[in-house]
Amino acid sequence: MRPSELWRTTPFRLTLMNGAVFALALMALLGLIYQQTAGYLTRQIDQICVSEAKNLTVGGAERLPERVTQAVATDARHIGYYGLFSAEGIWISGNVRSLPSGFPIDGKTHEIRQHGLQPGSRALVQRMPWGEILFVGHDALVLTGLREIIVNALKVSGGLILVMGLGAAALLSLRPLQRIDSLRDASRAALKGELGVRLPVSARRDEIDMLAGVANTMIDETERLLWEVKSVGENVAHDLRTPLNRLRALLYRVRQETKLVGAEREMIDQALAETDELLVRFRALQRIGEIERRDRQAFFEPVRLQSVLEHVIELHAPSAEDRGVELAAEIAADAPQVQADPTLLFEAVSNVVDNALKFTPKGGKVTVRLLTREEGPRVEVADNGPGVPAAERDAVLQRFYRAERARTEPGSGLGLSIVTAIARLHHFTLVLEDARPGLKVALNCWPRGMEA
Ligand SMILES: Nc1ncnc2c1ncn2[C@@H]1O[C@H](COP(=O)(O)OP(=O)(O)OP(=O)(O)O)[C@@H](O)[C@H]1O
Ligand SMILES: [Mg+2]
Repeated sequence: MRPSELWRTTPFRLTLMNGAVFALALMALLGLIYQQTAGYLTRQIDQICVSEAKNLTVGGAERLPERVTQAVATDARHIGYYGLFSAEGIWISGNVRSLPSGFPIDGKTHEIRQHGLQPGSRALVQRMPWGEILFVGHDALVLTGLREIIVNALKVSGGLILVMGLGAAALLSLRPLQRIDSLRDASRAALKGELGVRLPVSARRDEIDMLAGVANTMIDETERLLWEVKSVGENVAHDLRTPLNRLRALLYRVRQETKLVGAEREMIDQALAETDELLVRFRALQRIGEIERRDRQAFFEPVRLQSVLEHVIELHAPSAEDRGVELAAEIAADAPQVQADPTLLFEAVSNVVDNALKFTPKGGKVTVRLLTREEGPRVEVADNGPGVPAAERDAVLQRFYRAERARTEPGSGLGLSIVTAIARLHHFTLVLEDARPGLKVALNCWPRGMEA
């Protein structure tokens, strides 16, 4: 499964979206906690400044310089700023040597932004009734600490949400994806014409199952319609064979009992030949129906393709000789056996060899090969006759289709349809290729879709 596939699934996106919303909510919550706590701490610092300023001035003007020096000395943590200045702003005592410029002298606490002080530090500047100016400030170490805690919490929880969100999203999407994959496999088979397959439906009856159910009903209906259409042709073939046989018998009797000669006799002979041709077609049509309806596994057994091919060659050797076409064989002795109906395989290869001999001109060559491929055995029948152009290769597999050039040869255009039906029954693939020159018909004897 590719990451891009994972990304496209609805559960993955939904989980990620949920994670993002959750992360935003967490950020908002932590922000709120920070804002509230920082406000509270600021008010606390302000109170400390105010009460310290009050304490320092308790002793009056005389004791103020000394108290300020004392306050600096007792501040072991160095978080307090104290300064006493004359009315003109000249330093008298304390650890603050100069008044911050522009700071309001109103006895109220404000934030002091000054180099060397923590951001958020607070201070008040107050003018004494006797003119001196008192500066009392407090560091914002707690605020900085708090901010660090919150930022760290955001980093850690953000990372966790990201990792857990991605993990949960991947886990949640994997199962639906696997199910979609199995549905895709099943529908691929259905698209290739295997109407027997149905999409898997689980007991959960969720939305995927609902869709699979709808698709299955559609395949059911298609299969039913297809059988109906097919059986129309077969029924016609079946129903017409009896009257046709009677017609043939009648024509035969006419020929035997009347002493017709010349053109009249020729006409009767022609009528007989046409009737025979019709009967052959009807028989072939019925045969295709029979093969398609056959219970797949019932007649299957392990088959040695070598012996099937040898029989086909034996059967066609005399006709090859008559036609002046060389019939050669290249058979791999190590080709594995296949599960198949031997009679049907014989019929299929026989049809293909019959075509090759029929369409290859005198002096040509037909080669029957049995190859071993990684996926399984492959039967090839190649000739050096006129071949079938690439554009026509699908068409010749259809019922009754005969190429323009083939019209001079006898046939009804049903041979390859029978071969296709047999291949389909076995889950094998029939491939028409260019033999340069000529046609190569190959039967890949392994289940479709297994190609590397
Ligand atoms: N080896 C081949 N070389 C050239 N054309 C071929 C070859 N095999 C098949 N074809 C073409 O494919 C058409 C269909 O073949 P198919 O076997 O279905 O019918 P047919 O041989 O004409 O009649 P039937 O097999 O029913 O007696 C043929 O009419 C011919 O045009
Ligand atoms: Mg044929």
